[in-house]
Amino acid sequence: MSRNALFTSRLFVVLLACSSLTACESVDPNSPLGKRKTIFKQMLKTSEQLGGMLRGRVKFDEPAFVAGAASLNELVKTPWQHFPQVKDEGKSSAKDEVWQNQQRFNELAHKLEMSTAGLLAATAQKPLTPKALAAPLNQVEAACKACHQEFRDY
Ligand code: HEC
Repeated sequence: MSRNALFTSRLFVVLLACSSLTACESVDPNSPLGKRKTIFKQMLKTSEQLGGMLRGRVKFDEPAFVAGAASLNELVKTPWQHFPQVKDEGKSSAKDEVWQNQQRFNELAHKLEMSTAGLLAATAQKPLTPKALAAPLNQVEAACKACHQEFRDY
């Protein structure tokens, strides 16, 4: 298949996926919803890269791991400011509980921040080994999951 044909067929698949209006309702990237979704996706990408290195999916690269842990530790501080005081309209997968129980939500956000700080601290123990980093990364993943179970509608 030529590259063009491949592109066209991909485009067709995308169009098909969007044939129902609701499936394709776009999110304004500058809205609070758009901003937090972008950050969450970046968090997922970064944590998956770290997980991939520890689980052998990607080659373990010490400087890349340290840089990834540092950037994750910064990223996790940033989505919360994009949850407005009152739930916003649009394609949010946040449960109403985010706004009904902000104290618990903030607590779980804080737990995530503590876990990424722990992971970053663990990267100071040279030489780095995937084995030593597994537990702190598991804690980060558990912190993501704990909040999603309570506050995210898949
Ligand atoms: C304190 C709660 C909380 C924690 C901790 C948390 N999330 Fe989420 N996450 C949410 C909520 C709420 C949403 C739904 C946001 C929305 O659609 O309004 C969400 C949505 C997402 C999404 C979907 C974004 C989209 O495109 O719709 C991804 C991906 C994600 N989170 C990844 C992560 C990762 C990775 C971590 C851990 C490193 C994490 N989250 C930690 C609450 C949390």
